Amino acid sequence: MLWAAVLVVAALSDAQAQLTAQTSIAPELRECYIDPMLVNRNNLPPMTISILIDIIRKIEDNPNVNMDLRQLSALLLHTYRQDGVEFHRPETTLVSSSMVLPFAPTFHSFHRHRLLLTRLIPSNLQVLANNTVNSILKCTLHHMLSTTVDARLRGDESSCNQLSQYRALRSGRSPRSISDDVEIIDKSVLKSTGKNGQMNHFNPNDDVEFTSYDGVKSARQLLGDSQCPLLGGAVFSQWGAISAGHLIAGVAAGAQPQQVPVLELAKGSVLNYNNVQQTVTSLFPATLSGDLAEAVLIQGTDRGSSAISIGTAGNWNSTQPPRHYMLHSRTNVEMTDPEIRGDIDGFVLGSAVPSALGTFSTMRLSQYLDMFYSARNGVFNPVLRACNRRDLIQQYITSTNLASETFAFAAALDTNMPLRGTIIGGLEQLVNSAVNNFQSYTSNNLNDMSCVTTEAVSVDFRLRTNLYIVLDSMWEYNAVYPAISYLVDAIEVGKYGSSITVLNAFNGNAVVNTTFSPAEFHSNYTLAAHQNMLTGVNLLTTLTNIRVMMQARLGDESLVNYVGGNSTVVLFLLNSGPVQNNEQVFEQARLLNETVPDLRLIFATSTNQFDNLWNLVRDMHNDIRQVALSPGGINVEIAMSGIVERIQSVGRRIINPTCGSHFTGGPSGTRQFDDFVEPGYINFYSVSPNYFFTNNANSRIRIARSGAGTGSLIICHSRVVVHPRRNATIVGLEENAVICQTLASSGNVEISLQGACDPYWTIGQCPMLYLSVQSDTSGNAASSAVCTDPSVCRFPYNIRYQVQIEELLCFSGSGTIRASVIFMFAALFISIFRL
Ligand SMILES: *[C@@H]1O[C@H](CO)[C@@H](O)[C@H](O)[C@H]1NC(C)=O
Ligand SMILES: *[C@@H]1O[C@H](CO)[C@@H](O)[C@H](O)[C@H]1NC(C)=O
Ligand SMILES: *[C@@H]1O[C@H](CO)[C@@H](O)[C@H](O)[C@H]1NC(C)=O
Ligand SMILES: *[C@@H]1O[C@H](CO)[C@@H](O)[C@H](O)[C@H]1NC(C)=O
Ligand SMILES: *[C@@H]1O[C@H](CO)[C@@H](O)[C@H](O)[C@H]1NC(C)=O
Ligand SMILES: *[C@@H]1O[C@H](CO)[C@@H](O)[C@H](O)[C@H]1NC(C)=O
Ligand SMILES: *[C@@H]1O[C@H](CO)[C@@H](O)[C@H](O)[C@H]1NC(C)=O
Repeated sequence: MLWAAVLVVAALSDAQAQLTAQTSIAPELRECYIDPMLVNRNNLPPMTISILIDIIRKIEDNPNVNMDLRQLSALLLHTYRQDGVEFHRPETTLVSSSMVLPFAPTFHSFHRHRLLLTRLIPSNLQVLANNTVNSILKCTLHHMLSTTVDARLRGDESSCNQLSQYRALRSGRSPRSISDDVEIIDKSVLKSTGKNGQMNHFNPNDDVEFTSYDGVKSARQLLGDSQCPLLGGAVFSQWGAISAGHLIAGVAAGAQPQQVPVLELAKGSVLNYNNVQQTVTSLFPATLSGDLAEAVLIQGTDRGSSAISIGTAGNWNSTQPPRHYMLHSRTNVEMTDPEIRGDIDGFVLGSAVPSALGTFSTMRLSQYLDMFYSARNGVFNPVLRACNRRDLIQQYITSTNLASETFAFAAALDTNMPLRGTIIGGLEQLVNSAVNNFQSYTSNNLNDMSCVTTEAVSVDFRLRTNLYIVLDSMWEYNAVYPAISYLVDAIEVGKYGSSITVLNAFNGNAVVNTTFSPAEFHSNYTLAAHQNMLTGVNLLTTLTNIRVMMQARLGDESLVNYVGGNSTVVLFLLNSGPVQNNEQVFEQARLLNETVPDLRLIFATSTNQFDNLWNLVRDMHNDIRQVALSPGGINVEIAMSGIVERIQSVGRRIINPTCGSHFTGGPSGTRQFDDFVEPGYINFYSVSPNYFFTNNANSRIRIARSGAGTGSLIICHSRVVVHPRRNATIVGLEENAVICQTLASSGNVEISLQGACDPYWTIGQCPMLYLSVQSDTSGNAASSAVCTDPSVCRFPYNIRYQVQIEELLCFSGSGTIRASVIFMFAALFISIFRL
């Protein structure tokens, strides 16, 4: 009855310690293990770095949380991290007991965690209030930050390694890990230490629990061990899975550097080793040394190894969305691949935090992580990026330091952690073996995506799209959810990016309301929500409701003088057979087309419905797609890539807010909005001819610098190229199909719209004006903080500029034909004004 004993110990334990450092599950985290809705991880947002950043942003934006990076990183650990929680199968007589929770922090990672919270990263603040985030996000954060291994037999073990194609696709790494090669188990040593091992330094008055040492491992896992246990605390990133608790611990330790006496960590116990250094630097045990010491102690005693194995590979059982990280091995799981990455990233970010705060003193934790896990600019320096991890190891970690810090911490941890044997000599050799194997493993086996590949496979523009998905409930949830989840990532749903709304295809009512938070989207679009949707597809009702909603939105935007910024796409995802389309449906589509000219309708259907739907869209050859979605999200990237391209092709809107949806308003006068571009990135816009159809000498768009930032901006425009860029050679285009101008550090660029529709008789014929603003940088352009307002600036080095409109007009699409066509072949009149 191990678990019952644990509860008793917990009740008696030191009330001053943080609840997450105690030996029972912290009271506020218990619901994560009790409430069936929360226990099922499939109801929680996926384990990804972008969801982690999203939740941290929510906490930072919470008006009751007024903390800087230093305080928040420590408090996140104290509130949400509790390592080592394991399931303990109750004895049969107590199965139905409502008095015990069959989970307790008994896995080995708990002991180090406890030292971390109580001695290495103490926080004198209380924990974050229970209502800082809702229960779903609280449990998500808890599982993201808390390292543990769940070795329960699940029944799906036969498929453990079958998803290696994802791994190969993402990182090019081989599924084989070096740990398979160097694992040395000396059976005779194992026997002697395993059975007769003594608990060293056991002190009954100590608040270190002894109950977790049950001796017989199989007692915990009565059903038997899984060959591919689940690793808790791992989050997905493009640069490999990361143990987020180690990452945040590194930041917290680096933000508050401390030298902690080893004797204080040993809490008065006599150290077995007198040749260790007197103090440890908290950043080491918070990251690398912590895991290395665990590996040394456990493998040294449990398995009697003389060579310490570092690194255990694994994979997500589904990449869209990633929720379960499966290890490829059951043994030597003290320093798994995600922990190695979390340790390295945490160590590097912890080391770099003083200089990053020197550059930007109010930098938020979410921004720090966002910059590090970004494709291009990094933390004020492209060197500081996750894709550069291999070089960062060389740059930041010296092995002599690592070895002596690890030796000291291992000696201290030895006095805190019950083991199955007593190391009576040779600890230093074991530490050296671990450090050497860490180095060879990281240089030979951690083949995550490099920076060169990262830049090649990622786009250099970011979307700001309000995406409305009109969803047919006939899809199987586990086929359509991965596809939507993929879109959420691809369009960067987020505070500074895109939004998502899910409507049902029966009547257009919201299934998930508009949200800029991916965590909120995933919290709400659950299997239960999908099953509660109304069944059936009714294009007439749906399009009518969407038209009314979109027109109302234009009306609202008119009231608040919204000049633009976001684009809008409505994507129908249909799985029902031929849907009914008729004259009335077409009429709604036509009205939508004419009154909300910037909106793009896209149909994605499981069967070919081109003949049925072609008259509803703007561009019938591109806006109707067939998609094949498989359960479990297999090949979802391939299935959805065409849809993503279509969404990407819709530029950010620039509108005349006086028009609303009736297009009866007057000239816009001069109005503007601010926008931001990341160094080296490009923003794309489009202006609908509804705003410049007649010839007006004063209609123009102006781009002006309105903030600091290195490098110049390149402004390109085109009537044919949707994504105009400088130097882009597009075969078959006239020479001036794309016109570019450079905007230096001040002044502005004007694009005249005079006569821009002269050659065309109707609005329908007159093409949009496509516009781009690109940051032209050379060298290290993202090295200073020029955009420090976190309510608008995602990255502190973003370059601010203004999009101004002058004398835009309003023309409704309905049959507007110009009275006279003055200049049939007038070219655009362009002028540059430098102030
Ligand atoms: C706060 O904690 C209690 C348990 O102590 C839990 O029942 C409650 O649901 C929590 N509230 C929130 C908003 O998380
Ligand atoms: C446009 O997007 C920004 C964030 O990217 C958001 O704050 C704003 O509310 C959006 N505006 C509209 C009208 O959708
Ligand atoms: C969406 O928001 C509206 C109004 O704010 C609310 O009435 C409705 O219940 C919400 N729907 C969902 C699914 O949350
Ligand atoms: C998600 O669900 C919660 C609770 O039902 C609701 O309050 C919230 O408005 C929903 N959010 C969205 C974006 O639909
Ligand atoms: C991944 O594994 C978990 C745990 O066994 C399971 O619940 C989930 O359904 C699996 N997901 C997929 C897509 O196979
Ligand atoms: C692009 O064009 C500009 C101006 O015409 C020129 O200075 C620059 O060298 C070109 N860059 C490339 C990569 O061709
Ligand atoms: C929408 O307008 C475009 C031109 O602006 C036209 O080509 C298309 O046929 C229209 N579609 C519908 C459904 O009216």
